[in-house]
Amino acid sequence: MIALSDGIEIGYDDVGTGVPVAFIHGFPHNRTLWSPQVSALVDRARCIAPDLRGFGETSRHGPFTIDQYADDVAMLLRILGIERAVVTGLSMGGYIAFSLWRRHRSLVRALVLAHTRAGADTEEGREKRRALVVLARTRGAGAVADGQITGMLGKTTRERRPAMIDEVHRMLGSASVEGIVGALEAMMARVDSTDTLATIDVPTLVIAGGEDALIPRSDAHILHDAIRGSRLEVIEHAGHVSNMERPAAFNHVLSEFLAGLEYE
Ligand code: MLT
Repeated sequence: MIALSDGIEIGYDDVGTGVPVAFIHGFPHNRTLWSPQVSALVDRARCIAPDLRGFGETSRHGPFTIDQYADDVAMLLRILGIERAVVTGLSMGGYIAFSLWRRHRSLVRALVLAHTRAGADTEEGREKRRALVVLARTRGAGAVADGQITGMLGKTTRERRPAMIDEVHRMLGSASVEGIVGALEAMMARVDSTDTLATIDVPTLVIAGGEDALIPRSDAHILHDAIRGSRLEVIEHAGHVSNMERPAAFNHVLSEFLAGLEYE
């Protein structure tokens, strides 16, 4: 636990030695999303995994914006004495990674953009988020988790690893209502990052899930086509959280990418 300058306390993991990797979770996750990566990479990387505002052990008060989340991560990295990190964001974590790139570029050694997209919300998408805000306020995080769980996991995982449904549901259901509402408002208001893609000049790995129903692989192709020199990996038989669903496959592509950075 560490206190940032504006009075919020942030829960985070900081384990391992090697190249610093900042793991940024999605919605409505917390840092335990990254447990399969943190435990596998400790010998190779210094893994920093924060809980975003309103999630896990981090304080529940705003402002809740994508830029504020990015500033929180940047401040944590600076407090921990990290000059540059491989910024790894999943879904909403990817939206935050784009903001980190725009606002704190010197901190970004490389990017891993998993299950994410560059575009802003459509009006239809915002309408769904408004309904989710109402659901969270009236029926709580458990009801939000009930609604999100099917999209979170691929068909193969749901059929072959049913225990994962409970595991991921527990993570989603543990979010605070303040965190859920704040993140939904932050995502609704986020800017379109499409123009940012051409400015990215650090090594970038894009990861998609072959069965991701929330962010289809076509979005990953858009990132890959627009980010010069980027690498695209599709984790087959996995949905929106391929890092949990197929940790060995995810860790393999991530480890290869990290190993490649040593030669740059
Ligand atoms: C996430 O996993 O962070 C969300 O699916 C992102 C979103 O709703 O746009």
